[in-house]
Amino acid sequence: MCGIIGCVGRGDGTLETLVHGLSKLEYRGYDSAGVALTAAGRGVDICKCAGEIEDLRETLADRTLSGEVGVGHTRWSTHGPPTDENAHPHMDCTDDVAVVHNGIIENYQSIRDELTRAGHTFTSDTDTEVVPHLIEDALDDGADAEDAVRTAIARLEGSYAIAAVVAGQEAIFAARNDSPLVLGVGDDALYLASDVPAFRDHTDRVVYLDDGEFARLDGGWTVTQADGTVVEKTVDTVDWDPEETGKSGYDHYMLKEIHEQPRALRQCLRGRVDELGGTVDVGDLGDLSPTGVQFVACGTSYHAALYAAQLFQAAGVPAQAFLASEYASGVPPIGDALVVGITQSGETADTLSALREAHRRGARTMAVTNTVGSTAARECDHAFYIRAGPEIGVAATKTFASQLAASNLLALATAGGDARGIVPALRDLPGDVQALLDDSAAPAVAETYEDAAAYFFIGRGLNYPVALEGALKMKEITYKHAEGFAAGELKHGPLALVTENTPVFAVVTGDGEMARKTIGNVKEVEARNAPVVAVTDGASDVERYADHVLTLPETHPRAASVLANVQLQLVSYHVAARLGRSIDKPRNLAKSVTVE
Ligand code: G6P
Repeated sequence: MCGIIGCVGRGDGTLETLVHGLSKLEYRGYDSAGVALTAAGRGVDICKCAGEIEDLRETLADRTLSGEVGVGHTRWSTHGPPTDENAHPHMDCTDDVAVVHNGIIENYQSIRDELTRAGHTFTSDTDTEVVPHLIEDALDDGADAEDAVRTAIARLEGSYAIAAVVAGQEAIFAARNDSPLVLGVGDDALYLASDVPAFRDHTDRVVYLDDGEFARLDGGWTVTQADGTVVEKTVDTVDWDPEETGKSGYDHYMLKEIHEQPRALRQCLRGRVDELGGTVDVGDLGDLSPTGVQFVACGTSYHAALYAAQLFQAAGVPAQAFLASEYASGVPPIGDALVVGITQSGETADTLSALREAHRRGARTMAVTNTVGSTAARECDHAFYIRAGPEIGVAATKTFASQLAASNLLALATAGGDARGIVPALRDLPGDVQALLDDSAAPAVAETYEDAAAYFFIGRGLNYPVALEGALKMKEITYKHAEGFAAGELKHGPLALVTENTPVFAVVTGDGEMARKTIGNVKEVEARNAPVVAVTDGASDVERYADHVLTLPETHPRAASVLANVQLQLVSYHVAARLGRSIDKPRNLAKSVTVE
C-alpha cells in the first residue's frame, strides 16, 4: 500500500521519471498522488491531487515544475480521505521540506499535539505530516539536512518507509522500518522506490534496505544505521525484463497475467521436478521433516494455504492454515512445527507479524513468496520462490496458480507421498492451462450471468479453497456479492440465499466420493431453480445437472484444482469487463497491504 519513488541525477528528465515510476507503482495504491522537486539554490516545488496518476499528469500539465532531485507518491488512504490536502508529499510550515511516507506512524497524534502547541500549522488529516514539521524543528535548531531528517525519524514509532527532500539540497534522505524500500543504482542516476518495477526501465541493479536503515542518495549512495554506522550493502541484479511489467497488448494486466500462467508455472517447476525418477528438488530448505506445519497467509494466499495444508495432511503431516491476522490469538504453542508464510509480495504486514510471532515462539519459518529480497524472504529461516514473475493487477491470478504448484513441490519434498502420480500432471500443467485458455466458455458464461444478484461457489476437499478464491476474485473486481462455501455447508444456511438469480458454480473433479457428494449438493440448488455452472473434468455426470459447463482437461485431482481456478478467474474477469469495472485497480483495494 502506497508507493514511493525518488530519483537523483536525471536532470531535466526528473519529473517524467517520477511520474512514470508512479504509474508502475499504482497497483500499490491509487486514490491520490503527488511529486516534489528541488535543485541546488532552489526551493521545493510540489504538485499533488486526489485521483489516479493520470489525474496527476493532467494537473501537472497546467504547472511548471522543475528540479533535479525529486520524490513522488501514490496513496492508499489510512488516515483521512483521499483529498488533495491528504495526498503526499507533505510539507512543513516554511515549504522547505517535502516528505512522502508509506506505513502508519502510531505515535503521530501526540507528536502532532506537541507541534501544534509549539505553533506549527497542519493542513492535512494524515499521520505523515508530523514528519516534515519535525524536520523543520531540527533545521531551526541548527542541524544540517541529513541530521534533521535523522532526528525526525528517531521520534517515530510504527511502520514507515520515508523519503524526504529539503530545499536546495541535491539529495534524497530515506529510512525504512517495516515497509519496503529499495535503491536502484543506475550508471548516471540513483533511484529509490517501494518496489523495483518503478525504476526497472532504468536499471536492474538494486540494493534492498533493511529495517532501521537510513539512506542518502546524492552523487553516490550510502546506507547507515540510525546511529550513523555505515552498513556494507550488496548490490543485487534483478532477473526479469522491463517488458514483463507492461500490458503487452492486453486490455488489462489481470487478463495478461491470467494468460501468463503457463509460463509462470513452467518457471516455478523448472529444474525442480525429475520426471524420470518421479522426485522433486526444492534446493536447500533445511530439515524438511517437521512434526507439523502451520501456514499463515492473507487473502488469495490464504486460499493457497488451505490447499497446501491439505497436501501435507494427505501425506500424514499434521498441517493447518491460519489467517495471518488471527494467528497471534489462540494458536497453540508450536514445538517443532515449521511455520510457512505464503505471501506473493513478501510484504503483507499481517503475514510478517504472524511469522515474527512464530519466530518468537521458537519455530522455524519459511516464506513461500514471489518477491526475491522481500522482507518475508529475508526474515524467514528459509525462502522458497514461486517464480511467477511480476504481478501488477491487484487481484492475484498467476501468483495463486504458482503458489499451488509450489505447494505441491514442498509437500512432496517435505512430506513425501506418491510423487509419481502428481509429477507428470505438474509437467503437463502449463500445457493444460494453455489449452483451457485457448478454448474457454467463460466469456459466454459471463455474458449470461453479468446481471446476477449474487454468485455462489461450492467445492469440497482441494476444490473448497478454489471455491473461496473464485468468490474472492468475483467480489474484488466486479463489486458484486459472491460467496464461496464448502459444498456440504450449503444446506446448513447459505441455501436460504439461493434463487433463480444466483448462479452456483460447482467445482467437481474426478468421480470419487467427494464428486458424488458435491453432485448431491448441486441437485439441492437445482431444485431451488438456481442456475448451475459446473466446472468439471467430465469424470462425473455433474454436467447432467448443469446449465453451463466450464470444461477442464483431464488430469490429477491436485492439478485439476489449479485448472478449475483458471476458469473461475476468466468468468470474474469477463463479468467485470462487461460491467466496466476498474479491473486492475479495484476500488478500496491495494495489492500490497503493509499495515495490520
Ligand atoms: C492484499 C491483496 C490480495 C492479496 C493479499 C495478500 O489484500 O489485495 O490480493 O491476496 O493482500 O497478499 P500477499 O502479497 O501476502 O500474497
